[in-house]
Amino acid sequence: MAEQAIKIDGVTKRYGEFVAVDDVNLEINKGEFFSLLGPSGCGKTTTLRMLAGFEVPTEGRILLEGEPVEKVPPHKRNVNMVFQSYALFEHLDVEGNVAFGLKRKKTPKAEIQTRVADALELVDLSSRAKSRAGELSGGQRQRVALARALVNRPQVLLLDEPLGALDLKLRRQMQIELKQIQREVGITFVYVTHDQEEALSMSDRIAVMSDGRVVQCGAPEEIYEHPSEEFVAGFIGISNLLQGKAEGQGRVRVGGNSLPVPDLPSDFRTGDPVQIAVRPEKVAVDEIGNDNEKIQPGMFTVDGEIESMVYLGVGNQLTLKLASGGRLVALEQATYRVQSDDQWQVGQQVRVGWHPEHCMVLS
Ligand SMILES: Nc1ncnc2c1ncn2[C@@H]1O[C@H](COP(=O)(O)OP(=O)(O)O)[C@@H](O)[C@H]1O
Ligand SMILES: [Mg+2]
Repeated sequence: MAEQAIKIDGVTKRYGEFVAVDDVNLEINKGEFFSLLGPSGCGKTTTLRMLAGFEVPTEGRILLEGEPVEKVPPHKRNVNMVFQSYALFEHLDVEGNVAFGLKRKKTPKAEIQTRVADALELVDLSSRAKSRAGELSGGQRQRVALARALVNRPQVLLLDEPLGALDLKLRRQMQIELKQIQREVGITFVYVTHDQEEALSMSDRIAVMSDGRVVQCGAPEEIYEHPSEEFVAGFIGISNLLQGKAEGQGRVRVGGNSLPVPDLPSDFRTGDPVQIAVRPEKVAVDEIGNDNEKIQPGMFTVDGEIESMVYLGVGNQLTLKLASGGRLVALEQATYRVQSDDQWQVGQQVRVGWHPEHCMVLS
């Protein structure tokens, strides 16, 4: 079993009557890249601040490597926090910024030198060691902030939307770098973000939060392929939500159709309401009378009509009106074909299908 870095045990944080964090239970392994993901105001920062020691839980316990720390002040915890607005000392150079904490702790000079040099190498800033903070770009400033935390060699690094201030392109690049650095140093990262793509691409595991609670915790694939409820299915990517009734034998009646749903738990009884979801990228659309190029054997199919089409560059997003009632969104990836013979027309009659395994059952 993996060694445990953090245990959050029944933690609640109230501000007066308001419940910011509501009975959160999480176990985070050593060396894990763990993300807290959720919309603004769901309690991510508050959870992180309790791990850092800036806030005290109203109820529950926090253990770092098995030791209860609720009463341990921030500077006595072996954790470091990187904030979104990384305040650097503008008058100091990069080295001075990174060395600041170690100097204050009266670390021997020679040790400071090697540790600062190591940290700067890790974030690829050795060549800017003598630059003043004020001369750096956004991405470089972010790296200094990271080096400043890593130089302390914490057990756990807490990162609160650290890439939030960067533009999209730099952000994507820093995501890859940050993940590489985490692998290299092997420190446990607890990463806060409201960006689902960021969480999916970087994390070993994700805890999805809503209204102070953890609604689902699991590996990125698990969260994406098997969202536990409507909130998760909607927050992580987009989903087609379908309301139906269980029919027994792994089938669900939706409108005029009986859908095969292999994932339907056996405790659903005939007539029970079921909510299912299908990801737009799993929905195939074919011309009627075509030799079924995209509709594959084993797919469940219905007839429909193209109601609207949005060109996205990487593909088309089609809104389909089903003959049996209701609408579905399909995301059609642009393919390798040089000549596109898929010029869909609004109003065109089509066949719509998906593999039954791609029907996700939400609770
Ligand atoms: N010191 C505080 N006093 C009162 N309410 C707070 C305080 N800190 C946070 N909150 C509230 O708790 C909720 C969760 O906040 P926060 O953890 O910052 O959310 P997130 O980081 O997910 O956006 C928000 O509604 C916020 O307004
Ligand atoms: Mg926050």
